Amino acid sequence: MGSTSNPGDLVALSGKTALVTGASSGLGRHFVKVLARAGATVAAAARRLDRLETLADECRAEGLRVLVVPADVTDRVSIFTALQRIEEQAGRVTILVNAAGISVNKSFLDHEEQDYDQVVDTNLKGTWNATQAVARRLVAAKQPGAIVNVGSIFGHRVAGNASSYCASKAAVLHLTRALSLELTRYGIRVNALSPGLFHTEMTEQMFQSGFAESLIKRTPARRAGDPADLDGALLLLASDASRYMSGSVVVVDGGTLNSSL
Ligand SMILES: NC(=O)c1ccc[n+]([C@@H]2O[C@H](COP(=O)([O-])OP(=O)(O)OC[C@H]3O[C@@H](n4cnc5c(N)ncnc54)[C@H](OP(=O)(O)O)[C@@H]3O)[C@@H](O)[C@H]2O)c1
Repeated sequence: MGSTSNPGDLVALSGKTALVTGASSGLGRHFVKVLARAGATVAAAARRLDRLETLADECRAEGLRVLVVPADVTDRVSIFTALQRIEEQAGRVTILVNAAGISVNKSFLDHEEQDYDQVVDTNLKGTWNATQAVARRLVAAKQPGAIVNVGSIFGHRVAGNASSYCASKAAVLHLTRALSLELTRYGIRVNALSPGLFHTEMTEQMFQSGFAESLIKRTPARRAGDPADLDGALLLLASDASRYMSGSVVVVDGGTLNSSL
């Protein structure tokens, strides 16, 4: 049986190139720094370029290798263009973190068709688009890779006024399993990270409305997550530490899903 000579090396990402979508704010922004600090060259992708430039400046000041890439995950051409650029400047992407996501907080009865389309196009089709583009390149090059899809506890359980979001995240988790079935044979592992509640632009309204407070009361850890609480799970899924994991969903939620209330 194989053994690990230095367990500390398990999550090292030196020499690897990663792409993080949704990198201009919140969790994706944090993930860029975590992967870069683990040694990867990281392409930070989103639509708001000014935000990405600020992030890249902060990272470069730390001596990290971060590349700014404009990309809209709902637009396949934009993803292909981004990957071409990354490959020319930093080598082939072997780690993809699908963190781009949006939510529309409206009742089901008030949802407009365009609300549904935007949420599902970003969260589900965006994950599909980026994963397919990265996986096709890896398979053609006969290279292994790791895909980390960002799910949510609302992909496991439901919340009110978020039907399109809940449905999209449940679909992301099932897509993770389906792609694991198809891609693991090529050495491409597909796993998901399901965060609980974190204070970001997306959840600002939940914190304003009191929903966050009530969710925290039902969370065994009795607090919202800090982005750094996700570091261990992210590094696990992005690195060779998870080399025999595929189709897995790692929940990081302070126990919320397990709560009986
Ligand atoms: N915060 C939480 O409590 C929580 C819990 C569970 C899961 N999540 C998930 O974590 C991920 C990050 O969310 P967050 O809380 O960090 O929210 P956030 O701060 O609002 O960040 C969302 C990111 O997605 C990007 N994005 C949105 N549409 C995009 C598109 N079409 N193409 C490319 N990028 C796009 C945004 O960048 P641009 O607008 O610049 O494009 C932004 O960088 C999401 O998938 C979310 O569902 C969050």
